[in-house]
Amino acid sequence: MEYLPIFVDVRDRKVLVTGGGTAAARRIERALSAGAQVCALDPGPEEELSRLVSAKPERLTFEKRLPTRADVADSFIVYGASENEAQDELLFDWARECKVLCNIADVTDKCDFIMPSIVDRSPVVIAISTSGTAPIIARTLRARFETMLPPVYGQLAAFAGGLRDRISSAIANGRERRHFWERLIDGPVGDLYLDGNEAGALARFEEDLGRAQDGDKAPIGEVYLVGAGPGDPDLLTFRALRLMQRADVVLFDRLVDDQILSLVRRDAERIYVGKLPKEHTMQQGDIAALLVQLAQEGKRVLRLKGGDPFIFGRGGEEIEELAAKGIPFRVVPGITASAGCAAYAGIPLTHREHAQSCLFVTAHGKDGVLDLNWDVLIQPAQTVAVYMGLQNLLALVEGFERRGVSMDADVAVIENGTRSNQRVLTGTLRNIADKTRAADFKSPSMIIIGSVVQLRKRLGQGAGAAAEAAHELSIAAKSN
Ligand SMILES: C[S@@+](CC[C@H](N)C(=O)[O-])C[C@H]1O[C@@H](n2cnc3c(N)ncnc32)[C@H](O)[C@@H]1O
Repeated sequence: MEYLPIFVDVRDRKVLVTGGGTAAARRIERALSAGAQVCALDPGPEEELSRLVSAKPERLTFEKRLPTRADVADSFIVYGASENEAQDELLFDWARECKVLCNIADVTDKCDFIMPSIVDRSPVVIAISTSGTAPIIARTLRARFETMLPPVYGQLAAFAGGLRDRISSAIANGRERRHFWERLIDGPVGDLYLDGNEAGALARFEEDLGRAQDGDKAPIGEVYLVGAGPGDPDLLTFRALRLMQRADVVLFDRLVDDQILSLVRRDAERIYVGKLPKEHTMQQGDIAALLVQLAQEGKRVLRLKGGDPFIFGRGGEEIEELAAKGIPFRVVPGITASAGCAAYAGIPLTHREHAQSCLFVTAHGKDGVLDLNWDVLIQPAQTVAVYMGLQNLLALVEGFERRGVSMDADVAVIENGTRSNQRVLTGTLRNIADKTRAADFKSPSMIIIGSVVQLRKRLGQGAGAAAEAAHELSIAAKSN
């Protein structure tokens, strides 16, 4: 290790910052946020520093001049950020003579200490350093930590700190106490707190502490009903990813592919409960019962579903059973297939000139007989996003025709939306069934009906476009 990592208490101590640009402004802000008395000096401050000074933050004094040796001598820490080599060097020499710690921005050999990249969730602070070799790596790592830690993570530390004495006096055994702490931070109490439910977190804490005192080391588990989005792993939410990495067991279905599954904690048990359109691997009731059973064994159960769990996902039915049995659960929304497919195909679902509403429907009718509210479906200036519609596409088209909708109305069908093998077909109500048959479109496919589809010509350059272009060529070849 080339540097000694320490966190220094600078409260009410003088920190000198010289320089008038962005680097100086950042150093001033950081020193102020750590409680230092900051003295900033520069003969010609630039806009950012001027703005900072004019906000008159507490504990900041600013003078329009160069530093002197006396300024350095009574400082605790000195930052040089003048970007003037001679000035910064003089500052460094004075600091050495006065035995004051000094850091000259971007000049490693004129630094007694270096500035780490930080993730600030005070009182939790993560400092990352590459020992001055590759700051970009530190910044990249920082971005990763930022995504992993919810903004209120620091407050969780303060909340947990307030429970310390209760836990210490209730659980005498050191190892059991440590396990209790781990479950508290990384379990339902921590989750409830991070969700903004402090009262719920406290109630669950009391319950868990009571169980621990009764010698029950494995409290009841919990279930995470998580929306995995339509396929592209980049569309997972931070929370989904966090819970995926925490699960002991995962129940997943057909729409969750290997790329997403590979992000679940490596040693989590995997149970496939998927359904093909006419084939049920596991009955819905059995899935709910299994969720209950696994949670009652004390496990953290991840129920991973394609898209959003509450949009044609039967998520509501699964958690009804959990609620009835008093099993704690959390629901994490996901990007629903229509939103994902539309964005990746360059089709805005609403648009001032085309559609003022968007309707989500399922065409999962029994034996080709659709059970749809047609009066609502055929409204003008509306987009209709049809889930599970491929099998019944012809019946759907006939339904529109019978109710007088023009057969020239625009339609898009998106297969494997947002995935690397996404394919998009556009056409009209008149020809879309033939086109999808000729191109051999399969499930999962999303059907979008409405004039917004025309916008794809102009807007379909976004994500997924490259993979899609290759597939479109093959479709063109087949249909020619
Ligand atoms: C049982 S529904 C589940 C919907 C899911 N809960 C959601 O919010 O997207 C399955 C249907 O969603 C649509 N779907 C899901 N993922 C898709 C994808 N990647 N591309 C196209 N359609 C998709 C298809 O219409 C599929 O038949």
